[in-house]
Amino acid sequence: MSKKIDVEKYFTPDLTQARKRTKKTIEEVQFDLIDTYKSIGHNKTYIIHTYGCQGNEADSETMAGILELMGFKKTSDESDADVILINTCAIRENAENRIWGELGRLKAYKRQNPNLILGLAGCMAQEENVVERVLKKYQHVDIVFGTHNIHKLPDYIQTAMFGKERVIEVYSKEGEIVENLPKTRNHKYKAWVNIMFGCDEFCTYCIVPYTRGKERSRSKDEIIEEVKELVKQGYQEVTLLGQNVNAYGKDKKEDDYTFGDLLRDLNDTGISRIRFTTSHPHDLDRKTMEAIRDCEHVMPFFHLPVQSGSNRVLKKMNRHYTKESYLEKLNELKETVPGISVTTDIIVGFPGETEEDFLETLDLVEKADFEGAFTFVFSKREGTPAAKFEDDTPEEDKKQRLYRLNEKINDGYLRGSQRFLGETVKVLVDGVSKHDDEVLAGYSEHQKLVNFRGDQSLIGKIVNVKITVAKTWFLMGELVD
Ligand code: 5AD
Ligand code: SF4
Repeated sequence: MSKKIDVEKYFTPDLTQARKRTKKTIEEVQFDLIDTYKSIGHNKTYIIHTYGCQGNEADSETMAGILELMGFKKTSDESDADVILINTCAIRENAENRIWGELGRLKAYKRQNPNLILGLAGCMAQEENVVERVLKKYQHVDIVFGTHNIHKLPDYIQTAMFGKERVIEVYSKEGEIVENLPKTRNHKYKAWVNIMFGCDEFCTYCIVPYTRGKERSRSKDEIIEEVKELVKQGYQEVTLLGQNVNAYGKDKKEDDYTFGDLLRDLNDTGISRIRFTTSHPHDLDRKTMEAIRDCEHVMPFFHLPVQSGSNRVLKKMNRHYTKESYLEKLNELKETVPGISVTTDIIVGFPGETEEDFLETLDLVEKADFEGAFTFVFSKREGTPAAKFEDDTPEEDKKQRLYRLNEKINDGYLRGSQRFLGETVKVLVDGVSKHDDEVLAGYSEHQKLVNFRGDQSLIGKIVNVKITVAKTWFLMGELVD
């Protein structure tokens, strides 16, 4: 029998509130851990399960950093863990369904060890219906916190562990910027660096502007310092993160320092490789294209989500460009940075998408010559405008469209691989191949997966590889001097 829940005592999310944008100045908050919290995790362990985008991976590294500062140690054994956090993704329904399953599965560990603290974090926690369901049906979840209050994790752990109370604290606000957060990074040579948070685009299908708040850029000095520090620690590559990195700096009215300027400054930090994700075509400007052209450490790779090739659908998606203007910008980018590899995101089956609309998408894919894409079937997200749009396309037709689109996208992957046959490319060696531990694997400057034979001492280094085989998903080659 489920207990009656006093919802009033918790801070629960509110999507109407989350939609609001004001002209309020963004506050910068400094993270600090009080001394008494530094031993809470002594002799205790934690696990973080991460779903979704790179933004979540970066947030999980922060959560890990905070827990380790509190004395917790990482474990991979769930039956031994004292804290398990699930950092969730809300972008599509199937991502959420997996997480509900995961929460059900973890109940067994809670039964085994009633002292286990189970926490739900990330974008799903920012949704009203999710928190309601957790409150009513998932009473074994001890902590729910959202994307705006990761820095308060120590308080939540303390309350759940010693106060033996459930903590549900999710803010639906525009958001601030928290600096000085500790990070336990997952990789030794490649690092995520947040340059901005939130999104103000409000594409009609997307939940992100509600779950991540207003677009707000970190100060350039903080970013440059972080990258310089990573260089000192031996990092080779940074990936700059934001929902729309092309809008970097546009929320700071005081100067006209934007994404292109940041790329140029970061190029001088000594880092070998700079990547970034993700972009919005509408904010991609000439300054950025020229910075990629001029900066030797900025990689010749661009992920530029188009979403659809139909102008009618693009308008309903609120994307602020047409098929023609997208292709024009893409051509400008390709002319400015010859040889650049471009990938994209595409949604099929958006409400009201007809066969003709879909054919426009296929036509755009052909003209754009993408070297890869993440493709999705539209997923209805409660609270977004598109959730109310009439959608009469049968699911089976949508699946067929996805299949037809992927065929075309795969041709692009293969063409993108084949153009490197016989070329020598620079590879940052990540580790051994998943399929053969005598083979090394890494990524080229154009973001192609490359496998080759070599000594494991090369891991973390940038080496030259001559490409001898080009497959759809990867290249193979030989180490050269
Ligand atoms: N349904 C399907 N795909 C979506 N995306 C965002 N929201 C949805 C949705 N409701 C896709 C977009 C975006 C990528 C990160 O996820 O293509 O670029
Ligand atoms: Fe979502 Fe559009 Fe913002 Fe990307 S730009 S996060 S798709 S609202």
